[in-house]
Amino acid sequence: MSKMRAVQVSRPGGPLEIVEREIPEPGAGWVRIQVQACGVCHSDTLTKNGGFPGLGYPRIPGHEVVGRIDSAGPGVERWTPGQRVGVGWHGGHCGYCDACRRGEFFACQTATRITGITYDGGYAEYMTAPASALALVPDELSAAEAAPLMCAGVTTFNCLRNSNARPGELVAVLGLGGLGHLGVQFAAKMGLRTVAIARGADKEALARKLGAWHYIDSQAQDPAAELQKLGGAKVVLATVTNGEAMQAVMGGLGANGTFMIIGAVGSLAVPALQLLTGRQSVKGWYSGTSIDSQDTLAFSVLSGVRSMNEAYPLDRVAEAYERMLSGKARFRVVLTTGH
Ligand SMILES: NC(=O)c1ccc[n+]([C@@H]2O[C@H](COP(=O)([O-])OP(=O)(O)OC[C@H]3O[C@@H](n4cnc5c(N)ncnc54)[C@H](OP(=O)(O)O)[C@@H]3O)[C@@H](O)[C@H]2O)c1
Ligand SMILES: [Zn+2]
Repeated sequence: MSKMRAVQVSRPGGPLEIVEREIPEPGAGWVRIQVQACGVCHSDTLTKNGGFPGLGYPRIPGHEVVGRIDSAGPGVERWTPGQRVGVGWHGGHCGYCDACRRGEFFACQTATRITGITYDGGYAEYMTAPASALALVPDELSAAEAAPLMCAGVTTFNCLRNSNARPGELVAVLGLGGLGHLGVQFAAKMGLRTVAIARGADKEALARKLGAWHYIDSQAQDPAAELQKLGGAKVVLATVTNGEAMQAVMGGLGANGTFMIIGAVGSLAVPALQLLTGRQSVKGWYSGTSIDSQDTLAFSVLSGVRSMNEAYPLDRVAEAYERMLSGKARFRVVLTTGH
C-alpha cells in the first residue's frame, strides 16, 4: 500500500506533526480526493486545541479542501474520478435523521459530518469524504483560489444571502481576516452599502479595494456611533474572534437590524432594551452545506470575488498556522501539496 504525507495533531494542544500515513481507501458512499490545496481557517484551532464535540485523535485538520477525485467507493453515484471537487466544514449529511428530513442538513446527527473534526481533513496529500460533502469546482478557479471559498467563502456568502439585507442597504462587516475580506467582497457584489470595520488604519486601502464603500477604524473611532451616523446597519456580519469587539458594534444596528454572529466567541451580553425598541435581533450563522459551497464558487466566478491568499507548501504547515494566528496574513493562508 502506498503512503502519503499528512499533518496530524495527536492530542489536544499537541503540535502539527508531519507524518507518513497509508493512503486511505474510500468506504461505501465515500470518495478519495487527491488534495491540491487546503485553506488554514481560524476554526482549525479547534482541532489543534481540542474540546469540540465529536473530535477524536489523532486527527488531520483542514476543512477548506480542493482536489481531484481519484477513487470512488461502492454506491457512489454521479461523482467520478477526475472531477475537481471541494470539501468544507460541513462534512456531509445522512439524509435520514430527523434534522435532514426537515431540510436542516447543517444539524445532521450523523457522526461523520464535520471535516477535520469528526474525520480526517485536508492537511494531507489525500483524504476521503462522503459524496454528500462534495462541491463541484468550476474550471475558472485554481485550487488555491477555490479552497478558502469552502469555509470562509460559503459562511459569509450564505450568511449574507440568508440575511434580511436588500440591495442598497447598509451592511457592516466586522473584522478583516480570512472570513471578513471575503464578506466585504460578497456584500459589495450583492449591491449592499458595505462598511468594513477593522483595527487600525492600515487595512483601509485594502478594504476599499475589496469593495468597501466606507471604512471604520475601530481603534480610532467608536464603531457603533459611526454606523449610526451612516443611518444604522441593517446587518452586521461579525467575523471577529473577540466578544468585546462584537459588543462594541451592537449599538450600530438600525431599525429591524440583525447582528449575525459568525466568529466563534463564548458568551455575549446584548443591549436588550435597544433590541426591543429597535425590533432588532442577534442571530448565529453556521457555515453551509455542499450545495451552498457550490453556489458560492459559482457566484465568485460570476462576480469576480477572489480570496487574497498567501500560499505555503504542506511541509511548512507550522509556519503557515502561526501566520494565520498572527493576524498578519493578507488574508487567507493556503497550504498546497504540489499535486
Ligand atoms: N460561523 C461559522 O460557520 C464559522 C466559519 C468559519 C470560521 N468561523 C470563525 O470565524 C472567526 C474568524 O475566522 P477567520 O478564519 O476569518 O480568522 P482570521 O483570519 O484569523 O481573522 C480573525 C479576525 O478576528 C479579529 N480579531 C482577532 N483578535 C481580535 C481582538 N482581540 N479584537 C478584535 N478583533 C480581533 C481580526 O480583526 P482585525 O481585522 O481587526 O485584525 C480578524 O478580522 C473565527 O472565530 C472562526 O472560528 C466561524
Ligand atoms: Zn473554517
